[in-house]
Amino acid sequence: MFLRKLQLQHYRNYAHLELQFPDRLTFLVGENGSGKTNVLEAISILSQGKSFRGAPDPELVQQGQSSFYLSCQYEWDGAEHSLEMGVQLEGRLQRRIKKDGKVLASRSALIGNLVSVVFSPDDLEIVQGGPTSRRRFLDALLSHRDPAYLQNLLQYNRLIRQRNATLKSIRTNRARLSDLDAWDSMLVNLGTEITRKRRQFLQEYEPILNQSIDQISGGKDRIKVSLFPGEARPEEFKRALMDRRMRDVATGASSFGPHRDRLLFICQDGSERDIQFRFSQGQKRSLVLALRVGQFYYLKQYLGRSPILLIDDVIRELDYKRRDYFVDLLHRCGQAFFTTPDLDGLQEAVETTGARIIQVPTLQRNA
Ligand SMILES: Nc1ncnc2c1ncn2[C@@H]1O[C@H](COP(=O)(O)OP(=O)(O)OP(=O)(O)O)[C@@H](O)[C@H]1O
Ligand SMILES: [Mg+2]
Repeated sequence: MFLRKLQLQHYRNYAHLELQFPDRLTFLVGENGSGKTNVLEAISILSQGKSFRGAPDPELVQQGQSSFYLSCQYEWDGAEHSLEMGVQLEGRLQRRIKKDGKVLASRSALIGNLVSVVFSPDDLEIVQGGPTSRRRFLDALLSHRDPAYLQNLLQYNRLIRQRNATLKSIRTNRARLSDLDAWDSMLVNLGTEITRKRRQFLQEYEPILNQSIDQISGGKDRIKVSLFPGEARPEEFKRALMDRRMRDVATGASSFGPHRDRLLFICQDGSERDIQFRFSQGQKRSLVLALRVGQFYYLKQYLGRSPILLIDDVIRELDYKRRDYFVDLLHRCGQAFFTTPDLDGLQEAVETTGARIIQVPTLQRNA
């Protein structure tokens, strides 16, 4: 899978930008604030439907403008495809998304086309942030593998919002406890399916993750991945919802289900503790790298195509051993894009891989 062309209009600091990517590896080089990450972010939006920096659409529109437009051409299985997204802020926010010129229903429909894996310094959140960042990692990865999972998840999240609204109405005597029955039975159906798919995914992902850890840290840190409580039996799920009803009414929030499950990374050193409390900073960084490399190999294996790699300012943080490993991975991967303020210490990687270098400020002047 190769990204061939990218066009941006009134997007972030770019009035107009068109880039062609004939090469496998591209280094985007430029000083801080020049717009390197903005380019990766634009690719990630076309690939994943939204910004990996979590930026809402109004942030993406160039200052002083009221709309932005992104498009790309990519190659997959011998055929050329295109993806487009236009966002208009005037009046009600309007989004127009197309694949091969045909309108798609929503941003989530972009997922599964131009498949990508993003490496970002913020990834450290996955191992040392709260449960939400770990769930987000899990859900994003699984959504690329299985579009039906994503649809179930979106529907489940809508149900949770509706259930929470009902809980608040019950608290103020505008609804009855039995009004929860309908929501709960739908939640049980969707929730157990979501958990079943998460469990199946973790079984497939765990060995691939451990292989990546082996390669990065010499096999010292084995990890078990599990979900807690991760209830996949409908009867148990239903009972847990029932048991917590009064508490949920009091707080106005649904306290049980996949939206609250925790993804655990358990050390296999005899302690059975989560790595959050056990690993050193260096070990955590290696694990983060392994999680993303594992994501690459997982998607490659199960989708039958190599995702493109979007690597934001990560390579400079690695020590030489891990950098070598990374460069070796790049030799074997399809296509990768890096951002870095300069190429100090990277010359060898650039030379051995025949990478293309794009100076970002030059691009801006030509824009
Ligand atoms: N909506 C916007 N309109 C205009 N400019 C914007 C907009 N959003 C961000 N910018 C500009 O984009 C720049 C940041 O771009 P980006 O994050 O890509 O930098 P970078 O080259 O990755 O820098 P670093 O090396 O520090 O990571 C900032 O200077 C910011 O002012
Ligand atoms: Mg940046």
